[in-house]
Amino acid sequence: MSIPRHVVDEVRARTDIVQVIGQTVTLRRRGTSHVGLCPFHNEKTGSFNVVPSKQIYHCFGCGAGGDVFTFLQKSRGVGFLDAVKELAAQVGVTIEERALSPQEEARISRRKDLHETAEAACRWYEATLLVGKEGAPGRAYLVDRGISLDTARKYRLGFAPEGWNNLETHLTREGFDAELMLRCGLVKKHEARGTTYDVFRGRLLFPIHDDRGRPIAFGGRVLPGAPKDSPKYLNSPGTEIYEKSRILYGLSYARSAVQRKDRLLVVEGYFDAVSLWQAGFEEAVAPCGTSLTVEHLEIVRRLTTRVVALFDTDEAGINAAVRALDLFLAAGVEARRLDLPGAKDPDEYIQKYGGPAFEERLERTEPLLELVIRRTLDKHGSSSEGRGRAVAALAPTLRKLVGTVRDVTIRRAAGWLGIPEEELIREVGRARGEDAPSPTPGRWAPDKDLAHLLWLVVHYPERVAPGLAEVDPSVVSDRSDVLGAIARLLLLHPLASVLAWAEIDAPDLARVLAAAAANSDLYTLEASLPAARSILARLHLRSVEARILTINREIHRCETTGDKSSYGSLVRDLSALYAQQAGLKQSVNRRAGVVD
Ligand code: UTP
Ligand code: MN
Repeated sequence: MSIPRHVVDEVRARTDIVQVIGQTVTLRRRGTSHVGLCPFHNEKTGSFNVVPSKQIYHCFGCGAGGDVFTFLQKSRGVGFLDAVKELAAQVGVTIEERALSPQEEARISRRKDLHETAEAACRWYEATLLVGKEGAPGRAYLVDRGISLDTARKYRLGFAPEGWNNLETHLTREGFDAELMLRCGLVKKHEARGTTYDVFRGRLLFPIHDDRGRPIAFGGRVLPGAPKDSPKYLNSPGTEIYEKSRILYGLSYARSAVQRKDRLLVVEGYFDAVSLWQAGFEEAVAPCGTSLTVEHLEIVRRLTTRVVALFDTDEAGINAAVRALDLFLAAGVEARRLDLPGAKDPDEYIQKYGGPAFEERLERTEPLLELVIRRTLDKHGSSSEGRGRAVAALAPTLRKLVGTVRDVTIRRAAGWLGIPEEELIREVGRARGEDAPSPTPGRWAPDKDLAHLLWLVVHYPERVAPGLAEVDPSVVSDRSDVLGAIARLLLLHPLASVLAWAEIDAPDLARVLAAAAANSDLYTLEASLPAARSILARLHLRSVEARILTINREIHRCETTGDKSSYGSLVRDLSALYAQQAGLKQSVNRRAGVVD
C-alpha cells in the first residue's frame, strides 16, 4: 500500500511535532527551536533541536534529523507507513490508498514474485534441514557447530541436499517457473546444454533476510568432507530484491535489541551472528560476503552510533578494521573494537568460553581509531620523524570528519599520538588544502556559499526559490545537481516532505537541509534576496574564471601543437568570457557589503 503525498503532508501539518517528540525527549524552548538531549547519541549538552515552524528536528551533534515520521521510525523502529497511520489516527485524517501507475504496479508485482520464490525456497530448505533423511548431514553439522535446533528454527537455517535439481523440482511442483528461479539466483543455466541446475548443493544455508524479515537470498556453507576446491561459502548473486551493499545479515533479528541496548555488534560471518544470538547477544549483524559499504553505515547510523566491530584477529581482519574505520568516522559512528584472545572469531570464542566470558570482554572495548593510530605509530616508529610520518598517514582519515565529532576525535588522537592538539589541527588542515576538490565519501559538507544558498531557500522559499530554480547548475561547483532541484521542490512542497524524500535518496543532503533549517538566524527577510543574488554573482564569477582558465590552457595547447582548427573559436569564447567576467566583477563589488 502507499499513501498519497498530500495526505502525508496533511498528517504532518496537523501533528504537533514538539508534542510528539516531547513524549520521548524533554524539550526546552530556545528562540524558534525547542532544544533537548539527543536520543540518538550520548551527549551532555543539548544539541537536539526541534523546529515546529519547519516541522523538523535536527541534532547538531550526530547529524540525526528528519520530520515527525522519521522520528517515530528511528526512535521506535516502526516503518514509515505505520508511523503515518498512527499519527493520522491521532489527528483524524483518513487514509485511502493511491492508485499506482502501470509501471509501479509491474515493478511491485515483479518483486512480489521474487519474494514469493525466495520464501518458497527458504521453506523447502528449512523443512529439509529439520526433518527427513536428506537433512541428516545438515543436522549433524549443526550439532558439530553447537547450534541448537531452536536457533536453527529462529534463523530459518536450511539444508540443500546433494543433487542437481532438488530445489528446482520442488519449486516447479509448487508452480514457480524456471525464469523466476533464475531471476532469484536459485538456479543457473548450463548454456551449452540449455538445462538448469540448483546453485546450492550439499550446503548448510543461511537465509538472508531484508529489513522486514523476508528471505531474499542465501549464503551456503560447505560441509566437512566436501571436495577441497569448493569454496567455503557460496552466496546468492545480487538480484532485483537483493542488493548486497545494502543488506546486513541478521538485521531484522537484531533491530529491537539494538534499540534496547543502544549498541550494535558488527561481525564478519553468518555463524558469528547466529552464535552470538544463541548466547543472548541479539544485537549482531554481518555484511553478506562483502566488506562494509557506505550504504551499510547509513543503515547503522540510523539505528545507533555505538558500534562494536568484531573483526577476526588475523591479519585480514585487522586490515578490514582499518578500512572500516574511514567509513565509521565519515558516518559519525563511534566504532569500538574488541579483541577476543584465544579465538579466531566471535563464534569460536562463544563456543569455547561461553556468553558470560564474552559479556566481560565487551566491557573492554577500545576505540577503533586508537587501534589504527597505534598500528600506524608501530609502523613508523616513535621518533619525532616517525610521529610526523604517522600524522601524515592519519591526516586523510581525520580530515573526513566534520563538526563536533571532528573536534573530539582530533583532541583524543592528539593525546594518543603524543603531540599538541594545535599541531594536529594544523597538520589535518594542511592535508585538506592539498587535494581540496576530491569529494569525501560518506558525509557531504557543502562549501560556504552553497550552504548559505541552501539556508536561504529553506528559510525564504517564496522569496529566493523562484530565482534559484532558474540557476544554471554548472555555476554551482559543489553538487551542482542540488540547488535548482531543491528550489523547485520547495516552491511546491513543505520543507518537511522534501526532507522526507531526500532522506531516502540522498540522506547526506537531507542532513544538510535539516541543519540549515535548524540554524535560525543567518539573514533577515529583507536581506534574503540581495544575499542570494550576491552569492550567486560570486559563484557565477568563479565559474566564469574557471572556464577562462580552461580556455587559456586550450589556447596554449593549440599554440604549442600548431593546431589551428579550433583556435579562432577559442579566442572568440575567451573574449566573451572576459566581458562576462568584467560585468560580474562589477556586480560582485557593488554588492559587497550587502553580504558578509
Ligand atoms: P570466514 O572464512 O571467516 O568464515 O568468512 P566464518 O564465518 O568464520 O565461517 P566458519 O565459522 O568457518 O563456518 C567470513 C564471512 O565471509 C564470507 C561469508 O559471509 C563468511 O561468513 N565468505 C567467506 C564468503 O562469502 N565466501 C567464502 O568462501 C568465505
Ligand atoms: Mn567462524
